Amino acid sequence: MALVIDPWGAELHADYEKIVKQFGLEVFDSSLFPHPNRMMRRNVVFASRDQKLIASCIKNKKPFYALTGIMPSGDKLHFGNKMVVEQMIYFQEHGAKTYILVADLEAATTRGVSLEEARRRAMEFHIPAYIALGLDPKKTTFYFQSENKDVMHLAYEAAKHITLNEFRAVYGAADPARIMAAVTQVGDILFPQLEEPMPGIIPVGIDQDPHIRLTRDVVARTKSAHNFFPPAAVYHKFTPSLTGELKMSKSRPSGNIDLPEDTEEVAKKIQKAVTGGRKTLEEHRKLGAEVEKDMVFELLKIHLIENDNKLDQIYQQYKSGEMLSSELKKIAVEKMTAFMDEFTKELEQARKHVDKLKFIRF
Ligand code: TRP
Repeated sequence: MALVIDPWGAELHADYEKIVKQFGLEVFDSSLFPHPNRMMRRNVVFASRDQKLIASCIKNKKPFYALTGIMPSGDKLHFGNKMVVEQMIYFQEHGAKTYILVADLEAATTRGVSLEEARRRAMEFHIPAYIALGLDPKKTTFYFQSENKDVMHLAYEAAKHITLNEFRAVYGAADPARIMAAVTQVGDILFPQLEEPMPGIIPVGIDQDPHIRLTRDVVARTKSAHNFFPPAAVYHKFTPSLTGELKMSKSRPSGNIDLPEDTEEVAKKIQKAVTGGRKTLEEHRKLGAEVEKDMVFELLKIHLIENDNKLDQIYQQYKSGEMLSSELKKIAVEKMTAFMDEFTKELEQARKHVDKLKFIRF
């Protein structure tokens, strides 16, 4: 199949096509999926493993699951988390049994966060935040890694089937904390299949592929014992930093937006973002914007504008020079402010209901 071209693509350094080839991924094909969401339609979701299997479960209403883990390392989300949640919501709305776990053991061993602190953050912030973004808590099963014995048993079993050299090859490093976290994550990913093997989809940023590969290897080696389906995955691109780097990161605050964040702060950051506007008004009108270099447009495309026609209209106007960077920024500030206000409001609402959630513990 030909590579799907992102019609509004940014010229960023990561060569996503190269990654697809190098890791043996499939190019994501949104036409396989009913009512693809914004990220799927715009090629932000760009690669997958076993997408056809999941698409056929959706089409034929066969059981499958979607699963992700919350890393409670702080009291904020970033746009990477938001992308995962949006993918989870898509699969939940299309029939997936939905699992959200809190990676409290991983946070403890790799980040020094106590189990109590991880629990507090998950209950007061992360889980309500996921609900605020649209996840249906009534249709979701939650658990803490530290309270799920099945996951622990699966992790121990997985450990038997992985060598240190292999681990190094997949992860680059092999310190004990990371090994514990990785085998626990294999347990998480396979846990929903203990009762009955079924396909599962794990939406992740492309940097998380090692976990998917490791789990698929373990599945192949435990075939006779379990007959698990190897986990399917969809991979999304990063949300680029407003300052033009590949990925937003806390280490560059001026290019990074957290959820939630003060809207005036955010507006200031958007004003200073790297754009594709030309040096002078005259030049801009004549040549039009370099939309591929514009981080504000990326934000609109990936996160803030739902309607494809509206986005295309903005693209055309900006590209032709009819629209200025200042005007594009104004749109982004308005949309972002509305989004943050809504998110904060929904978060407060969701916090009132966390005590009613379904947690499994044994
Ligand atoms: N390692 C993930 C992170 O750092 C958290 C996680 C734990 C996870 N178990 C998982 C993610 C299973 C996906 C699936 O965010």
